[in-house]
Amino acid sequence: MKFWSSFLALGLAQLALAKPLVKRWDDVAEKHSWADIPRGWEHKAAAPADYMFEMRIGLKQHGINDLISNLMETSDPMHSKYGQHLTKEEVEAFTAPHSSSVDAVDDWLDFHGVDPSAAQRSPAGEWITIVVSVAEAERMLGTKYNVYHHAKSGQDVVRTLGYSLPKELHSHVDVVAPTTYFGTLRSMKSTSFVQHDVKPITAAEIEAASLVPVSNAVVPTSCAKTITPACLRALYNTSTYVPTQTATNKLGVAGYLGEFANTADLQTFYKTFRTDAVGTTFSVVLVNGGLNTQSSPGVEANLDIQYTNGISFPTPNIYYSTGGSPPFIADTFTPTNTNEPYLDFLTFLLAQSTIPQVLTTSYGDDEQTVPLDYATSVCNMLATLGSRGTTVFFSSGDEGVGGGDCKTNTGTSQVIFQPAFPASCPFVTAVGATTGINPEKAISFSGGGFSRYFATPSYQSAAVSKFVTGLGTKLNGLYNKTGRAYPDVSAQGQFFQVIVGGRTESVAGTSASSPTVAGVFALLNDFRLASGKTTLGFVNPLLYSNASTGFNDIISGSNPACGSTGFTAGVGWDPVTGLGTPDFLKLQKLV
Ligand SMILES: *[C@@H]1O[C@H](CO)[C@@H](O)[C@H](O)[C@H]1NC(C)=O
Ligand SMILES: *[C@@H]1O[C@H](CO)[C@@H](O)[C@H](O)[C@H]1NC(C)=O
Ligand SMILES: *[C@@H]1O[C@H](CO)[C@@H](O)[C@H](O)[C@H]1NC(C)=O
Repeated sequence: MKFWSSFLALGLAQLALAKPLVKRWDDVAEKHSWADIPRGWEHKAAAPADYMFEMRIGLKQHGINDLISNLMETSDPMHSKYGQHLTKEEVEAFTAPHSSSVDAVDDWLDFHGVDPSAAQRSPAGEWITIVVSVAEAERMLGTKYNVYHHAKSGQDVVRTLGYSLPKELHSHVDVVAPTTYFGTLRSMKSTSFVQHDVKPITAAEIEAASLVPVSNAVVPTSCAKTITPACLRALYNTSTYVPTQTATNKLGVAGYLGEFANTADLQTFYKTFRTDAVGTTFSVVLVNGGLNTQSSPGVEANLDIQYTNGISFPTPNIYYSTGGSPPFIADTFTPTNTNEPYLDFLTFLLAQSTIPQVLTTSYGDDEQTVPLDYATSVCNMLATLGSRGTTVFFSSGDEGVGGGDCKTNTGTSQVIFQPAFPASCPFVTAVGATTGINPEKAISFSGGGFSRYFATPSYQSAAVSKFVTGLGTKLNGLYNKTGRAYPDVSAQGQFFQVIVGGRTESVAGTSASSPTVAGVFALLNDFRLASGKTTLGFVNPLLYSNASTGFNDIISGSNPACGSTGFTAGVGWDPVTGLGTPDFLKLQKLV
């Protein structure tokens, strides 16, 4: 293992010694700032000086580059280390901060009257959490905190438009939160929307869809307009597979924003659509004050948990409900959650010694609304999950090549395609949406495009450059040719029959597609475990190489938005449906 940062740390230490001590923390430089208040938010009031909140400081992980190099080897099917995932402790040897970083940050906290020994630290020490008042945070970060209001969701948050750190700390600290990440997660709840104009399935249709003996070869024709587990199992050829590794294999569903997965609704769903599973259920893990209130079932949560279970049964499923967006009440000064859902959930998960081998998340943001330093930290944590042997799926978004007016937030208001994050992180498997049968086609809302933050990873460069070359000069300037391109794969994304509060709803969104693919990959993991192999882990390098023929290529449809035609699906990978939809029987032979 290389300690590339030690040289830098030495240089800085000498520099610091050469200066008068009092100057040490006064010499500051901006860490991140926005040109304007992020779109959709408005300034409400100055934050009360004595409002207390939890501040997270993300220290530079001294071995993160080595961790990522190792991840690329262990997920490369041609490499001798393929499938050799790391344990929690092995990962922490890479993600831990250098001791010089810990010392520098502790000295800085001490200087500001914050007792470093009272700070909470993640197992490897790279995340430090302290409780501070707004006044203290403003002094530490050379900024002003305000209360901002999000009209669409009614949410209030305490944030700043920019923050600084002592120059000396820039080489030791990746990110401080909450600062400039406002979080538009709530609006992304629209990644699943109820199709009011679509009539839910009738009793006779249910009979036809679930009681007809399901075979891989026969996809019920009703699946063109109503999707049930029987449809997906037939379409993706999982109907005949019987999982056996239920003692070790698990599938996790991430839930946010007060979305609760209902156990009674799952029973109704099973009685209707998956009778062999009746009487079984999922387990619930509550993170950072999250709840799973049974009187308040959520469309998103029920969709996710009903379809992961509906495909992967009897593989144990876990619903993770992360708190973090309580109403901010400006006149109470008790510490509350900080509305940092990604950091809360990922730090929690990485601190567990056993984690599910597949994880699906149906939430996201426009990439440009997530500060680069914050997005990089979250993306590195997702790489760390991959290193632990977990396959991480995210919905690719429901707005085609971009949502809203597609204007940049850099002050120029240029119209460009707007990629979604975390789908744009190269360490996740992003899932787009299809519809119809014989053949499946892309749905126009299927999120796809090219990151403006993360470069094209080598595992997809051949597939992506073929697409970009084919496009020629079309759409030039609207997308970033050198960015990480997504989605990676796709699955059905509308007409999903979901039970919510006892009623059947028809639901659409890439929110439906990601749990579907997660269910199929949980079965592939079961198969690998049964063959004495390790789980698939970070799966993209395999998907773009050995396993690329295990997908049904989707060759029609497009994802127009931003006043443009968007991208068009075609032969091979495309930024509408990725490599295509999974064929379990083919993939089984390839993994
Ligand atoms: C991937 O394909 C290569 C070349 O065909 C083969 O040598 C290798 O074993 C395959 N890896 C896996 C994990 O199937
Ligand atoms: C998978 O199912 C499709 C029907 O959706 C069928 O045409 C195909 O032959 C199946 N693949 C395999 C490998 O059986
Ligand atoms: C394109 O992506 C790269 C990462 O490969 C990034 O550095 C660059 O700023 C992006 N360009 C634009 C115009 O967004």
